[in-house]
Amino acid sequence: MNAIATNVLNIFTGKFSSAPRVYYSPGRINLIGEHIDYNDGFVMPAAINKGIYYAVAPNNNSTINFYAADFNEIYTVAVTAVTKNLGWKNYVLSVVNEFLLLNKTVKGFDCVFGGDIPRGSGMSSSAAVEGGLAFAINDLFGFGMTRVELALLCQRAEHNFPGVQCGIMDMYANLNGKQGHVILLDCKNITHEYFPLPLEGYKIVLLNSKVHHSLTNGEYNVRRKNCEAGLAVLKEALHINSFREISSADDVTLHKDKMTEEVYQCCKYVVEEIGRTRKAGALLQQNDLAGFGQLMFATHNGLSTLYHVSCKELDFLVEQAAHNKNVVGARLMGGGFGGCTINIVKDEAVDDFVTTVSAAYLQQFKFSPEAYVMELSDGTCCIN
Ligand code: GLA
Repeated sequence: MNAIATNVLNIFTGKFSSAPRVYYSPGRINLIGEHIDYNDGFVMPAAINKGIYYAVAPNNNSTINFYAADFNEIYTVAVTAVTKNLGWKNYVLSVVNEFLLLNKTVKGFDCVFGGDIPRGSGMSSSAAVEGGLAFAINDLFGFGMTRVELALLCQRAEHNFPGVQCGIMDMYANLNGKQGHVILLDCKNITHEYFPLPLEGYKIVLLNSKVHHSLTNGEYNVRRKNCEAGLAVLKEALHINSFREISSADDVTLHKDKMTEEVYQCCKYVVEEIGRTRKAGALLQQNDLAGFGQLMFATHNGLSTLYHVSCKELDFLVEQAAHNKNVVGARLMGGGFGGCTINIVKDEAVDDFVTTVSAAYLQQFKFSPEAYVMELSDGTCCIN
């Protein structure tokens, strides 16, 4: 167990008397396929070596005690009184609520959690909080649900109390990650394939813009609604059922006059991004990193100019990467509106890249980004 897990366990034993199990619940990166998990697309996430650690044990009564180590806050609630709340409490309470909605007999438990996913960084700390708790409850009370069922439960949890109408990507990656592998996830059929990430000589580097990304302010849901409105038009005009049946963004443009400009741009982005992800897997497997990197830059451009989920800080970071000969591809990662860029950088040039970009960023915005070199981990699991 690492220092964070040990700390979580020590807090638990200091507060509660039962012997807990300890779980690791990872954050995620996404190589390509952004904002298309809720549009029947394909995405390429992976679980990472930053995450949330949980210590959890049943307590033989009907009360749940949550202790959020990173906030130094405790919250106690009767199982029968679980209801919508605020902040971090919503993520854990919503997970319990979803088990209750399935008529699962959740009993009282004690729980301490904390981790090292920088908040608001777009590495999906919320899915890590939800996935870790769902996995622990399923494990401790013997509900026998599969990882895919748990991912779907967590997605409903995120829709419900926190109110973000997210896709399935984050919780799927959280629960189904595989060390050293990327998940090629088909978000329409909810099936996946793994493939090893052939990055010989390269590293995945995240640059955290430190612009706090939050999806609970409604902009994420607006994008989702725009896509729904556009799809309704395109279904009728093109006799299709899903964005993935549209092979060219020109077909969207043909029906532009039936949509608002905002809706049109969202749909154009979605069709183009689905097209990119169809090429991306093959390029990666052929080790064509240059080709893959170009797709990443194109994705960023679409997210910035069509989907409008970037910001000047993220654009700046990607621009810096584009001018650096040791970077093959870069783009904003996750929901956007702040958070991180993901960069594929030559091994020996990582330090130089981070130093150069950080200096330029500091000069431009008067604060520094943070860099993390990523490793791909297994999905949520019991570690002790
Ligand atoms: C957030 C959501 C995901 C996905 C990404 C964008 O992380 O939770 O479902 O839509 O944004 O790709």
